[in-house]
Amino acid sequence: MPTAVTTGSAIPELGPPGVRGICFSCDSIKDMDVAEETATRLGPTATWYSVGILADDQQLALECAEFCRRHGLHALFHPLDLDVCGTDPLDDRLLRELGRRADELDSPWLNIDLAMWVRQGETLLESLVPMPLIDEAVDWAVDRIKHAQDVIGRPLTIENAPYPFVVGDRDILTLMTRIAERADCLMTIDVGHLYGLRVQRGQNPVLPSDDDIAWDRVVEAHMSGTFIRRFDGGVRLVDDKHDWPVSDEVWDLADALLPRAPHLRSVMAEAEGMTADELTESVRRFARRADHWWSAP
Ligand SMILES: [Fe+2]
Repeated sequence: MPTAVTTGSAIPELGPPGVRGICFSCDSIKDMDVAEETATRLGPTATWYSVGILADDQQLALECAEFCRRHGLHALFHPLDLDVCGTDPLDDRLLRELGRRADELDSPWLNIDLAMWVRQGETLLESLVPMPLIDEAVDWAVDRIKHAQDVIGRPLTIENAPYPFVVGDRDILTLMTRIAERADCLMTIDVGHLYGLRVQRGQNPVLPSDDDIAWDRVVEAHMSGTFIRRFDGGVRLVDDKHDWPVSDEVWDLADALLPRAPHLRSVMAEAEGMTADELTESVRRFARRADHWWSAP
């Protein structure tokens, strides 16, 4: 079983040794037929499959594990109900269930958005609330991530959530670095989410502060389509669209940032809502660009 990561640049090899490549996601709850068809067509072009399920759904976890075995894919577990930035207390029973699902999937880490999925017991699957970009969020998230990793028994990789609205003025990658170093966890850069957030704030997609990010902790990256609508008065609404193709601006940002991450193992085409044709083409497009992203041989 993987253990929590160590600090600094001495991050041990996690998961299947030497494996890195393209991942794809699908709606595992509704669209496993799309995943089946896509995996069959792709063959070795895809390396990982992202399993987005709830902690108690053992049957679906086992089905996804079997799907991965059949297609030679490695599973990456993306729980939909772990709230490291929520306000409800963490539930140890749920954390132990997450650990079991991760064991069943043999996922080297659990990817979790820095956001709130559940509020007073109500699941907010379609409208997760992103972590406020304030210093106080660091203490809040660190304690919860440490506890979650201890109970689950596997590392978490924290992801910058989508920001359809923004509270606070801190940079998300800077806050993530502070959280990851203190909680001793991994990081996932969602390039589309990052692009959307910075555009929404009128910033450049790449900032000077990006030089100081804990790139050695980044093991995953995600990309999907980006929805931007500009309103009178300079107001912008930005969100990601998993069933849209990746835009040129997001590809460019990926090319600029991902080679900085020496332990990057998986770049995911997020694709819930795509048909098998669209998803297959999307993953092939990722594979054609992948040489830009791996910084080490
Ligand atoms: Fe993502």
